[in-house]
Amino acid sequence: MSSDRKPLISGNWKMHLNHLEAITTVQQLSYLLSEDDYEAVEVTVHPPFTALRSVQTVLQADRIPIVLGAQNCHWESEGAYTGEVSPAMLAKLDVRYVIVGHSERRQLFGESDEIVARKLRAVLGAAMTPILCVGETLEEREEGRALDKVAGQVRAALDGLGADTVGGLVVAYEPIWAIGTGRTASAADAQEMCAHIRSLVADGWGPAAASSLRIQYGGSVKPVNAPELMAQDDIDGALVGGASLVADDFARIVNHRLYGA
Ligand code: 13P
Repeated sequence: MSSDRKPLISGNWKMHLNHLEAITTVQQLSYLLSEDDYEAVEVTVHPPFTALRSVQTVLQADRIPIVLGAQNCHWESEGAYTGEVSPAMLAKLDVRYVIVGHSERRQLFGESDEIVARKLRAVLGAAMTPILCVGETLEEREEGRALDKVAGQVRAALDGLGADTVGGLVVAYEPIWAIGTGRTASAADAQEMCAHIRSLVADGWGPAAASSLRIQYGGSVKPVNAPELMAQDDIDGALVGGASLVADDFARIVNHRLYGA
C-alpha cells in the first residue's frame, strides 16, 4: 500500500451473527485492537441490518473507534419498497460506509450495473462512502477477460461522477472465484488488477483522484495471507468475509503490519 492512503480493513459479516452475537463479536474485537492499530488502519464492520443499532450503541457507549458499515441499501430515501432499507436510514444510525454491488447481490439478487450505479449515487447523496465491489468469474479469468470485465464494472458505476467524488471512494476488487472458497488471488494477480483499476481512474478522472482512491482486495483474506496482499503498492486494504466473523482472526488481519510480509 502507499503511505499516503490510510488502509481500510472491512469485515463483511454477510448474513451471519444475530444482534446479540454481533455485540459480543465487536466487543471481543475491541479488546484485541489498540490505539496504534486504529492509528495505522481504518477498521469497519458491516453487520446485517438487524444488528446495526446494537453495534452502533456499543461503539458509541464504549467509545470504540471501529467505524460502522452496511452491506447494501436501496437507492431511494423513502417510499413503497417493501423489505428495503434506505441510505438515509443507515446514515441516521451513524453508518459511514455502504458496500454496493457485492458479487453475491449481483449474482443472486440480479443487481445490474445500472442498479449498482444508482445505489452508489444514493449512498453519496446521504453523505456516506460507497465501497464499490467489482470482480470477474473464473471463466472470465481463464478466458483472459478479467481486466476488461472489471474495467467495464468500474466505468459503469463511476461514469459521470466528478474527480473529487471518485477520489474519495473505495473500490473492492473481489474475484468471484476467490470468495468463500479458500482460494486467494496471488498477490501479483491482485496487485495487477488493483493497478489496472487505479490507472483507468487516472485516465478518466485524473491523477489526483487515482492517487487518493482506496482499493481493497477481497476473497479468502486470512491472517496468513494478509501481510503479503497488503504489501502490494496498489492494495490499500481488505474486504474480509469469513475471517471477519472470528474476532481473533479479524484482529490479526487488521494488525497485519506486525507480522511482516
Ligand atoms: P471471504 O473472505 O469469506 O472469501 O468473503 C469475501 C467477501 O465476499 C467479502 O465481501
